[in-house]
Amino acid sequence: MLPSVYAPKDFKRLRAAGDIVARCFDFIAPHIRAGVSTGEIDRLVAQFLKASDARSASLGYHGFPRHCCTSRNDVIVHGIPRDDEVLRSGDIVNVDLTLEHKGFHADSSQMFMIGDVTPNARKLVQVCQDALNSAIAVCAPKVPLSEIGRVIEEVVTPHGFSISRDFIGHGIGKVMHDDPQIYHWHDKKFDKVKMTPGLVFTIEPIICERGNKCKIDADGWTARTADGYLSAQWEHTIGITEDGAVIFTQRGE
Ligand code: MF3
Ligand code: CO
Ligand code: CO
Repeated sequence: MLPSVYAPKDFKRLRAAGDIVARCFDFIAPHIRAGVSTGEIDRLVAQFLKASDARSASLGYHGFPRHCCTSRNDVIVHGIPRDDEVLRSGDIVNVDLTLEHKGFHADSSQMFMIGDVTPNARKLVQVCQDALNSAIAVCAPKVPLSEIGRVIEEVVTPHGFSISRDFIGHGIGKVMHDDPQIYHWHDKKFDKVKMTPGLVFTIEPIICERGNKCKIDADGWTARTADGYLSAQWEHTIGITEDGAVIFTQRGE
């Protein structure tokens, strides 16, 4: 299937949706600290979306029961917020939020470090963010889609961390998950697929402290590293413009 191409007026709406995501993170950030449950984070997200004329695209998605995903420590993605999961000093946690506003979706996730985290956890979080930012920086018309994965590998591999191959980035816009598929490792099959203006997609590398294999909990959602070591993920929704890329979910603007 061919990916959708979005017009400049759609980019305005994607930016509006992305702004709500960014402001939601600003709203929840001060609350994400030791003693707070992931269930409480979900309630804060729900409260913000309600006040912002936005709908969680995760709630009810294939039966997903909450407004956002909260993935702590060895959970790599799709952790379900729970009242009995209380954050403690030393935890690293990803909050992933996809919303729909006036028919357009925006999707972003980021890591939070709780209290005193180990140097290696801090490094994992930082390298993952660097990998995402480096990948975004090369996005522009005529650039092969495979550059994204190549750059992420270039940033991550020297540190000895591994890249999950079980989850990928995706086209997004009028729906949450669309073509193209965005791999976070180099794959030659995307060497000939070039970015074009109007393309909108997420980049969302997951990197693991040790092995990249994962297992799914009995709840059918929570994906954890098979070896129990940490993982981290950062995600933005971006759009290809005539001369580069715009980050719809950029914070602090
Ligand atoms: N936000 C996720 C992504 O990056 C999708 C979450 S779907 C859910 O693609 F149902 F798990 F919430
Ligand atoms: Co997401
Ligand atoms: Co996504």
